[in-house]
Amino acid sequence: MKGEIHGIGLDIGTSKVRCVIGEAGDDGRLNILGTGQTDSRGLRRGIVTGAEAVSAAIKKAVGEAERISGLEVHSVVVNLSGEHYRGENKNGVVAVAGVGREITEDDVERAIESASAMQLPSGWEIFDRLPQEFIIDGQDGITEPVGMSGSRLESLVHIVTGPSAGRQNLEKAVQRSGLEVERMVLEPLAAAESTLTDNDKEYGCAVVNVGSEITSLMTFGRGAVQHTAVFPFGGLHFTKDIAVGLRVSMQEANSIKHQFGCAASFLMNDDERSETIEIMPVGRSETRGLSKEILCDIMQPRAIELLQHIAHEINAAQMQIPSGIVLTGGGAMMRGIVEIAEQVFDAPTRLGTLSERRFGGLANQVNGPDWAVSCGLALSSMDVQMREYRSGGRSTGRKVAAWLGNFREKFK
Ligand SMILES: Nc1ncnc2c1ncn2[C@@H]1O[C@H](COP(=O)(O)OP(=O)(O)OP(=O)(O)O)[C@@H](O)[C@H]1O
Ligand SMILES: [Mg+2]
Repeated sequence: MKGEIHGIGLDIGTSKVRCVIGEAGDDGRLNILGTGQTDSRGLRRGIVTGAEAVSAAIKKAVGEAERISGLEVHSVVVNLSGEHYRGENKNGVVAVAGVGREITEDDVERAIESASAMQLPSGWEIFDRLPQEFIIDGQDGITEPVGMSGSRLESLVHIVTGPSAGRQNLEKAVQRSGLEVERMVLEPLAAAESTLTDNDKEYGCAVVNVGSEITSLMTFGRGAVQHTAVFPFGGLHFTKDIAVGLRVSMQEANSIKHQFGCAASFLMNDDERSETIEIMPVGRSETRGLSKEILCDIMQPRAIELLQHIAHEINAAQMQIPSGIVLTGGGAMMRGIVEIAEQVFDAPTRLGTLSERRFGGLANQVNGPDWAVSCGLALSSMDVQMREYRSGGRSTGRKVAAWLGNFREKFK
């Protein structure tokens, strides 16, 4: 398989664009060969507002990953984001009429189709249909019905819907940068692919991807997606609070947050609490001292408030999550967020890091929660191609043209 199948993920976020290029290894791992990251412009809450700026950022991030990997990218799996999409659980039933009443792929497709028959708001579409389980003649819990016998096939499907325009405009921005969109994958689903174990998905857990302006939630149970929700907040809210509270510029607030921020005061001892940092208020020519305790007093209540919204959603949907919460996205890098989340959710909480079983190569360079989405997109790209390859179907086109003799020349 080496050198034949590649997985390329492109995470277009409101604050960063990230690209991951990997190659399928013989052990089912995606060996990461190159990564690229750049500041993002031209998006608001995951939606394109300036296509030109977005495609410039895409070119930069993809170009960097190409240079490192020595491969040329033609098509990518892209994150599907936005603040308006939502998930619903539906069911559909079909009669099985084939020879010996053996269920075929066609029957399964019809059962999923039947669950997907729904009224959508104008301008909305189905983003994804994620089968949860099948029921054959009353026998539930079936995950692979093809080849089984029965006369009545019922499907339970998690259906995610959202506005078409946001998806189309993101797709156009990618095409504008000269790339083809192989597929789009919901952002929290991609984060889950790279960080959750099969046990997490089976016993029940929630992925919370904290971005810059968007936080998405996806819960899993019995091996499938059970609930999806999106919240219009993220790391940027902390930056704004700091800018307003300390009267500093947004840029300075962001750097204070990254360098000294903490969302859980109990992690700081007395010495650290009283430690001062120098800040430069807007319009002043001199710096002033600020204790780390005051900074934490700004961040902690906001962290609790935002996490409580998510906890409320999980409780209202009556989701069981014994395997706990997995935090991904750049916002999860904030010091103290895991500890404070553990208290708010009253459930084991951890940072999402790449599954060792599924990633190799340069994986240790992108093992932070901020890379979970882009790595998950690349993994999903590889997995789909592998399935097609094994079933003898056509490959979805070469994702990269392996080393073109004079390729490096392009970058000299
Ligand atoms: N070390 C850190 N401490 C605190 N916050 C951090 C740290 N690193 C990154 N962040 C925050 O993470 C956020 C960006 O996260 P991420 O890169 O996942 O967002 P994005 O994908 O660009 O945005 P979105 O998903 O909302 O479109 C920013 O608000 C940034 O300030
Ligand atoms: Mg994001």
